[in-house]
Amino acid sequence: MVMKLKAVVVAGGAALLSLCVLLAVHPAAADAGGYGYGKKSIEDTVRKEVEKAIKRNPGVGPALVRLVFHDCWVNGCDGSVLLDKTPDSSSTEKAAVNNIGLDGFDVIDTIKSKLGAAVSCADIVVLAGRDASAILSGGRITYNVDTGRKDGVVSSAAAADAVLPESTFEFQQLKDNFARKGLTQEELVILSGAHSIGVAHFSSFHDRLNATTATPIDDRYAAALDADVKLQKTRQNTDDPVEKNNIRDMGAQFQRDAGYDATGVDTAAAGALDNSYYHNTLQNRVLFKSDWVLRTDGDAASDLVEYRENATKWDMDFSAAMAKLSKLPAEGTRFEIRKSCRFTNQNYY
Ligand code: HEM
Ligand SMILES: *[C@@H]1O[C@H](CO)[C@@H](O)[C@H](O)[C@H]1NC(C)=O
Ligand SMILES: *[C@@H]1O[C@H](CO)[C@@H](O)[C@H](O)[C@H]1NC(C)=O
Repeated sequence: MVMKLKAVVVAGGAALLSLCVLLAVHPAAADAGGYGYGKKSIEDTVRKEVEKAIKRNPGVGPALVRLVFHDCWVNGCDGSVLLDKTPDSSSTEKAAVNNIGLDGFDVIDTIKSKLGAAVSCADIVVLAGRDASAILSGGRITYNVDTGRKDGVVSSAAAADAVLPESTFEFQQLKDNFARKGLTQEELVILSGAHSIGVAHFSSFHDRLNATTATPIDDRYAAALDADVKLQKTRQNTDDPVEKNNIRDMGAQFQRDAGYDATGVDTAAAGALDNSYYHNTLQNRVLFKSDWVLRTDGDAASDLVEYRENATKWDMDFSAAMAKLSKLPAEGTRFEIRKSCRFTNQNYY
């Protein structure tokens, strides 16, 4: 069976179709739960593909980290975020406002095409996010995850928008949102550190640059950001361009204009998943209101200082929080191992 699977992989663009044929021809093998892949072998394949994907397109690394949060938060870790349509709905989680910018689906598809029935799409999301975290942190973020998740068959944009936190939330709303998933205030502070990587659309932080709605933000940073958004509207040819989450990763001129104080930040580590977020937050040089409001609570603010001061502690605690996130149990009643991560099996045939 391993040989046959390899043949499918070589087929490249036609892989999905071939896989379909393969499974139709050998239903017993598919039902038996895989192709003799052990967990180690599954993990190796995922790791290799994530490495390749990030090398090709660094932007996909942050996307894979975020995908864990956005999958596991809605119906638990069940791959529901990956669905393009279900028998009940074509307005799946991907269409949610709070899922703006969500990406990494092609990487998940590629991994699925290599592993077939051996592994659920839900497991792939969690494994790929874990590997992206390890790669982007230079190996400092590591944690174990179990496999054996099943894929859900329900995915709704409205449900995702009802459950995912918004960048304009107040501190108490964020805290309540995390508490509903069994995550603590401290874990809110720890996981928000993921905003040391990746990008955000202007629409996710425009409130911060508007005098009517602005929450405290460093004046020089706000001015530099405002100017750069104007520039990026032209460059990216859109009214809703993206900006980098982390001022560490902006150009030197931007940093000077914004009065960035890089003391204690490893500025050579552009793009790294690390504790630089805490330096930025405590300087009011972060994009989202949801980042800034962490300063407004006494305990959360002391956690921010602790994580700014102790990079190793953040690496360890972020690893543990990601492991916990990756364990949020699926909430549905019907499950399967999908043939394609984008469709329920009922839709696929
Ligand atoms: C605490 C509540 C959170 C809020 C309100 C929030 C909000 C957001 C928003 C609005 C964006 C930008 C989307 C866009 O405009 O394209 C974003 C990006 C991102 N978020 Fe969060 N987030 C939260 C927590 C988290 C958590 C827990 C994680 C990770 C485990 C995470 C990881 C990321 C990453 C990596 C990006 C960049 C994605 C990319 O570049 O593709 N966020 N977040
Ligand atoms: C600023 O926010 C207010 C209130 O939401 C809105 O009416 C106004 O159009 C915004 N201004 C800009 C320039 O977007
Ligand atoms: C940083 O945190 C780690 C883990 O909690 C701890 O062992 C270490 O002593 C801390 N370092 C400092 C300088 O406080």
